[in-house]
Amino acid sequence: MRRKMAAGNWKMNGTSADLDEIDALGDAVPDPGCEIVICPPATLLHRMAARCDGGPVAVGGQTCHSAANGAHTGDVSAAMLVDAGATHVIVGHSERRQDHAETDAAVRAQTLAAWDAGLTAIVCVGETEAERDALNTLEIVGGQLAGSVPDAATGENLVIAYEPVWAIGTGRTPTLTDIGEVHDFIRTALERRFGEGVGRSVRILYGGSMKPGNAAEIGAVSNVDGGLVGGASLKAADFAEIVRALS
Ligand code: 13P
Repeated sequence: MRRKMAAGNWKMNGTSADLDEIDALGDAVPDPGCEIVICPPATLLHRMAARCDGGPVAVGGQTCHSAANGAHTGDVSAAMLVDAGATHVIVGHSERRQDHAETDAAVRAQTLAAWDAGLTAIVCVGETEAERDALNTLEIVGGQLAGSVPDAATGENLVIAYEPVWAIGTGRTPTLTDIGEVHDFIRTALERRFGEGVGRSVRILYGGSMKPGNAAEIGAVSNVDGGLVGGASLKAADFAEIVRALS
């Protein structure tokens, strides 16, 4: 059985004062019924991991460089994330693909680096609005999946996040039928490539305007194993409701 996951992506939000949200989350859901991962900006990672130590909330990075170290000004390696207390890392988020021109090959290399360091990689895929309008959603998602995920995937080292680009931060979400179609498609692709055992054990999260009000119905869709939540993960009260809805 796949354990549901509620992952929060704080993106470029949060300073020291926001670390209190972690304590508030712990108070609101002291015994969560699903796995929780919070991915704060790199500046907060170490302190957040220290606050979460011994509790049920895991901490992750938002990206990592594909190299272990070296002359890459401004970048953070997977080993550095581990050193700061991370157990997970998001790779290939659409904002990285857009803002930093990250290709599937780059995301694949980052995923390998994450695995080398012992991190679980949360690999993001998703179509733009133009691609959905052109009825290319499954082709785009299938291509990203094939190109971004390395061969050595397991149910422990890999989580997939399906995030339609047009649903991120917009308050719009696909219909439940459309979400189910893409998640079923991803499940089938994982089973074909990695075999049924591994293919069935990898969690597939939905992301894009997930809120307290829609998390339960989205979480109940076939092959939806949780959520990757942006805006609604910033405040403990909202995120706690999502955790409960996904549990
Ligand atoms: P929102 O939940 O703010 O739409 O962001 C989703 C997302 O991009 C999470 O990675």
